[in-house]
Amino acid sequence: MDNRPIGFFDSGLGGLTCIPHLMEAMPLERIIYFGDTARTPYGSKATRTIRNFAFEITDFLAAKDVKMIVIACNTVSATCLADLRARRPDIPILGVIGPAARTVARVCGADNRIGIIGTKATVRSGVYKEQILKHNPSLNIFEHACPTFVPLIEEGIIRHEIMDLSIRYYLDQFIAYNHIDTLVLGCTHYPLIRTNIMKLYPGLSIVDPSEEALVRITGTLRDRDLCADAPAGDHTFYASDLSENFVEMINRIFRNTGFTVAFKSFDLEDIVSRDGD
Ligand code: DGL
Repeated sequence: MDNRPIGFFDSGLGGLTCIPHLMEAMPLERIIYFGDTARTPYGSKATRTIRNFAFEITDFLAAKDVKMIVIACNTVSATCLADLRARRPDIPILGVIGPAARTVARVCGADNRIGIIGTKATVRSGVYKEQILKHNPSLNIFEHACPTFVPLIEEGIIRHEIMDLSIRYYLDQFIAYNHIDTLVLGCTHYPLIRTNIMKLYPGLSIVDPSEEALVRITGTLRDRDLCADAPAGDHTFYASDLSENFVEMINRIFRNTGFTVAFKSFDLEDIVSRDGD
């Protein structure tokens, strides 16, 4: 048993989509979340920049004595999971792509036309395709970057025609031309526009990797005997820029759950120093 919190991080709001599932499955667990809202989006930045941001946040969470770190961000998982594990071999660090790739390979067959959507960095890495094909080389996979989705979601422009236009701009042709029947939401922000996508393309099967990641998180906690047996304090949400939208989204997630949350703004200048860089 281990009552220390679990650290989660993302470039902003996206990683929050994993949290309600975890709270339902394991209500005794406590979360420390870091949203790098001052520097979002990550997906259009160079790999080296993304890696440096991820190192800083991992060091910050490690200094908070977390028992596990969940990279609730496909972009970071795709570009620097191995670097983060090498930097902190003392803490289990989980990404979101591996579990999702296994599920896609399990539920899809050679007749399916699978579309992976994500940020530019995730698509550029080719990691989704590589990992899915490792499990099942006969699958048909097409990838497409949708760089305006994250900034719109961070602005709270979700149930709005601007978001629908943006979705159509990236997906109309991609889906029609490649005859896509299964769409993988390869960015943790995208479950927030799942309803828009389903309305625009009814009949499309959607795979949400955050749901798959939950199975991996709960499994790892159990296998390593890291489950909590008593709740230890509030869930804490740090943001490098404590924006209205960030607070509003978290309040929406926690409304009616009975859990209390604490918000903390975080000055990037104070971030744990990057020894060894
Ligand atoms: N939510 C993230 C992901 O899963 C990051 C998106 C971004 O900052 O561009 O890729």
